Amino acid sequence: MATIIEKLCKIVEKSAVITEKDVMEPYLHDETPGLKGYAEAVVLPSSTDEVSQIMELANRELIAITPRGGGTGLSGGAVPQGGIVLSLEKLNRILDIDVVNSVAVVEPGVITGTLREEAEKLTLFYPPDPASLDSCTIGGNIAEDAGGAQTLKYGTTKNYVLGLEVVLPTGEVIFTGGKLRKNATGYELMHIFIGSEGTLGVVTKAILKLIPAPKYRVDLLIPFTEFENLSRTVLDILHKHGILPAALEFMESKAIKASEQHTGEKLPFPEAKALLLVELDGNDSDLLAKQYEVIGEAALNNDAIDVLVAEDERRRADLWRARRVISEALKSTGEVAHEDVVVPRGEIPGLLKYIEQLESTHGLPIAVYGHIGDGNLHVNILKHDIPDDVWQQRLPALVHALYSKVVSVGGKISGEHGIGLAKRQYLSMSVSPEEITLMRNMKKMLDPNNILNPGKVL
Ligand code: LAC
Ligand code: ZN
Repeated sequence: MATIIEKLCKIVEKSAVITEKDVMEPYLHDETPGLKGYAEAVVLPSSTDEVSQIMELANRELIAITPRGGGTGLSGGAVPQGGIVLSLEKLNRILDIDVVNSVAVVEPGVITGTLREEAEKLTLFYPPDPASLDSCTIGGNIAEDAGGAQTLKYGTTKNYVLGLEVVLPTGEVIFTGGKLRKNATGYELMHIFIGSEGTLGVVTKAILKLIPAPKYRVDLLIPFTEFENLSRTVLDILHKHGILPAALEFMESKAIKASEQHTGEKLPFPEAKALLLVELDGNDSDLLAKQYEVIGEAALNNDAIDVLVAEDERRRADLWRARRVISEALKSTGEVAHEDVVVPRGEIPGLLKYIEQLESTHGLPIAVYGHIGDGNLHVNILKHDIPDDVWQQRLPALVHALYSKVVSVGGKISGEHGIGLAKRQYLSMSVSPEEITLMRNMKKMLDPNNILNPGKVL
């Protein structure tokens, strides 16, 4: 390994190769509860050419490379299993916001929230908004095809990628796509890399679609005493009234309490069993007002306790802070098993009922929250002070039952956090053997020596 480190120091400047244990520590985990890896070195390249030389070296010497963005992942995709961590943090420039073509050209280390802010200054909008948007990066978002609350109206990261520069595991650099709204020229290679969890190539540049920023936003916070009434309201908003909010988010009481303890700020309606957070956006404030009247009425018809309308920026920011902090807040309550299931949204009422049953039949507390409008729920099983042996015995059975239910109604075991390391053993529950064979063949073709993020996904 010493000679490899010497070679790395010839590719990048010496200070960009880290081997000290304590300095490497933050690069050995992401935000997945309970996962920690190990590595021989961390390397911080500053250009595409350096990334390419590193990949060539690794491919020649058969060294595992684990690419890393902001380290906010929730399935262990960036957790190294030996070899070298390739952190893209120095490639962090917004190279251009091209207003005429309505695109941003960025390096992978750009923080997602920063891109959103810079675009807003030009009245443009980059919609993908993972809860970690203040620290996650565009490269990581592309690797995971990150979603977020506004997926409901605007889609996930893949809907905004127009072009990619990618370093292949063998070191070649390709550029696919462009500043183009459409492109039917050959196979769509770009999409192979989006959501590939850093196993097929390293993104070194991206062209991202921007859209006009909506002028107005308004949020509604609606408390319910029954999950069923809340899910019926969601389906009424979308189908009966034909309103497509930017976001329809669900928070159950244990998730709310954890959030309140974490931020020290209380949300209204302590008596609620669950809260529905709705965001409307658009350019016509009268239309938004009409829509929130309709939504409020639909909610009250489904026995909502009340409807709170938040129009001013500060109140809205408070609500979203409370929502975005939940994942972190639940982790600080102790050991957590974090699931990220997705079902056709018509199945949501049945899934919520099933989760309540799982809680009582398996005797483990479950905090649920997430993107209910997308049919995507984050199901967090909490250990609290349950003895280790009881936890280890009950948890796998609960997770298996949850996945079986999800798959039986046409769902998948991950909606937006990916398979990574954490869910790998369950992939075959959700994807057919034929698809897995195709995935393995794709991996082999692009990475014949299996050096790029080995052991992830497959
Ligand atoms: C959220 C992250 C965990 O929705 O996906 O908060
Ligand atoms: Zn989420």
